[in-house]
Amino acid sequence: MADTLTIKDNRTGKTYELPIEQGAIKAMDLRQIRTSPDDFGLMTYDPAFQNTAACKSRITFIDGDKGILEYRGYPIEQLAEHSTFLETAYLILFGELPTASALDAWTHEITLHTMLHENIKKLMEGFQYDAHPMGIFLSTVGALSTIYPDAKKIQEEDSRRLQIRRLIAKVPSIAAYAYRHSIGRPYVYPDNDLSFTGNFLNMLFKMTELKYTPNPILERALDILFILHADHEQNCSTSAMRGIGSSQADPYSALAGAAAALYGPLHGGANEAVLRMLKEIGSVQKVPEFIKKVKGGDGRLMGFGHRVYKSYDPRARIIKQTADLVFGVTGRNPLTDIALELERIALEDDYFVSRKLYPNVDFYSGLIYQAMGFPLDMFPVLFAIPRTAGWLAQWDEMLRDGDQKIARPRQVYIGAAKRDYVPREKR
Ligand code: ACO
Repeated sequence: MADTLTIKDNRTGKTYELPIEQGAIKAMDLRQIRTSPDDFGLMTYDPAFQNTAACKSRITFIDGDKGILEYRGYPIEQLAEHSTFLETAYLILFGELPTASALDAWTHEITLHTMLHENIKKLMEGFQYDAHPMGIFLSTVGALSTIYPDAKKIQEEDSRRLQIRRLIAKVPSIAAYAYRHSIGRPYVYPDNDLSFTGNFLNMLFKMTELKYTPNPILERALDILFILHADHEQNCSTSAMRGIGSSQADPYSALAGAAAALYGPLHGGANEAVLRMLKEIGSVQKVPEFIKKVKGGDGRLMGFGHRVYKSYDPRARIIKQTADLVFGVTGRNPLTDIALELERIALEDDYFVSRKLYPNVDFYSGLIYQAMGFPLDMFPVLFAIPRTAGWLAQWDEMLRDGDQKIARPRQVYIGAAKRDYVPREKR
């Protein structure tokens, strides 16, 4: 028997058979359910899209209950152990791991595009000295659309590929410039002899030395963090990327919007919020008091909970291991003990256990970033760099998908019924 869902409409007595495909019914199939010819047809009401699939995707698989994350079928644990960020970005974008020569070519192509147009420096100079680097980042990414008007040719595969390479190569340069601007240091040009993350560290931290040599442990740790953040299927910022891209805007404009979505404290701003929370708690002794406050509804335990993961976020586990490597070089972040105590208590507390609230990717990443010398407001920018690969892969997939149209949800109108305008003096 075919997979179908039978719906009986008690208003009319009619029954409807809706096909179930890949665990979903088509919302448009509900439209046929009407009480009269002028009835618009049944809709689903799903604020925040908690149970609505907006696309079919081949990129990232998550099983939130089992704590599984895979890019193109490869478990995140294996990629974090064996791959590099650029190789993972290639996998996410093109569907397969590259051969050795394809990886060389891809690395070369990305390296060619790391420079920013000199006008970008002037644009950045216009920002206040204390401007949040994420604000600078997202504005600058948007501004790139004016430098590359050819990016409007979104239907042309060659043009899309070029913009993808440009964006992946240039976001670390923008991020580094935003950082250097915020601390008043001169911008550092890319060093194309270095790896993707090694060059990023160079652009961030190089001083007067002729050649910057990244610490290999920190370089690898950052690469692992980039792998873990590269994609996460239809989250808030990716949905923004797809939503904006669906109007056929160029990818720089769409990516600026995705970065804006990532900026919020409930999404990519959470790792920054975690560190502020840990600082505010101040000591291990004050952890029980803080947990009590959260349980009483006063604030949230930042870095805990996830819309999809209802068990330990697999990325958080890898990040915890990476933290030990980093602390071996930088020394232990003193806030780590507070984080460990928060996790210990929360994992035993019925409030968190019953709501399936576990540490997410952001709970430990901020501790690593801080130990590596990044200021708090750089954290969301560090998230945006690798996620650029995921945003672009999802954008490209959307543009190839014949099922997609301009994104346009419906609403249930609950406002005033039609009424006549009342002259001002009579109100
Ligand atoms: N601390 C305390 N309570 C929480 C938390 C938290 N971090 N997260 C959820 N809850 C509680 C809610 O109060 C709610 O309780 P109730 O049922 O008694 O009202 C219940 O758990 C369900 O919470 P929702 O808000 O419905 O869960 P949702 O799936 O909408 O939210 C989110 C997910 C936004 C991530 C949430 O868990 C949160 O705010 N976490 C803290 C911020 C954070 O770490 N964000 C990063 C997410 S990962 C990422 O974006 C990369």
